[in-house]
Amino acid sequence: MSSESSHIQSIQEALKKHFGNAPDIGVVLGSGWAEQADGLLENIQRVPLTEFSGWPLPRVQGHSPELRMGTLEGKRVLLCGGRVHAYEGYEAKELVRGVRSLAAWGTSAVLLLNAAGSLREDRAPGSLMPFADHINGSLPNPLCTDQTADGTVVFQNLVDLYDPTWRTELCQTQATLRPGVYVGLRGPSYETPAEVRYWQGQGADAVGMSTIPEAIAARTAGMKVMALSMMTNYAAGLGGSQPSHAEVLETAKKHGVQAAQALLAAVSVLSRAGKGKVKSK
Ligand code: HPA
Repeated sequence: MSSESSHIQSIQEALKKHFGNAPDIGVVLGSGWAEQADGLLENIQRVPLTEFSGWPLPRVQGHSPELRMGTLEGKRVLLCGGRVHAYEGYEAKELVRGVRSLAAWGTSAVLLLNAAGSLREDRAPGSLMPFADHINGSLPNPLCTDQTADGTVVFQNLVDLYDPTWRTELCQTQATLRPGVYVGLRGPSYETPAEVRYWQGQGADAVGMSTIPEAIAARTAGMKVMALSMMTNYAAGLGGSQPSHAEVLETAKKHGVQAAQALLAAVSVLSRAGKGKVKSK
């Protein structure tokens, strides 16, 4: 067994030991989403990430490092705090180890949340964007030979990576949501104004530093995938914007109620959108 497969195997066993059967949905929390999401769950059970040996731990403040299992809209939901990023020096396989472990456990759907910079004047800070698609600008790919669990390369089709039925159902219940294209960059510096103009010209609507590796790994593992960005700032230079991490966290906090509503709605419409292909173990 490769060392990556054995990490996944042991995390999966620990998940089973702490929580029993896999949840209906795993939710990966991004900057600013954790506090809001917490209040939504009933019968909450919290376990720190340190209980899951091999689960990479965040090196940046503000990403709460624990898993929370609870019920929401009649579904068992696992909230995953403590996302790790490429800018922390992690490799692709480490960025996606959590998601791969959830899939191995039998979780068939994943919702990926993040904070992003808006590339469009008509997407104000606080607005939410379900992913229609992504552009991988400079994030690492978890399907390269040295990044897969068993060391094989995977040529994955990514058409409709972000589940169209799930997205449509969500947008029907939350009229303010407008899908768009996310470009993922390694960071951690924010973009230059010239880069912002470049990505606008390439058809991107929002820019961020996460999500894409997890989405690719989740699709490859057979999960149904959805992602939602909260615009926490205008990207650099747009309307004179000078982005900062403090602004990102402050905006996320300020618009937490709408974000929580969207999260609730995304979980609630999941059964209408159908489940993914992963089989329960
Ligand atoms: N750029 C990249 N990532 C981000 C931004 C941004 O402006 N805001 C939040 N995450």
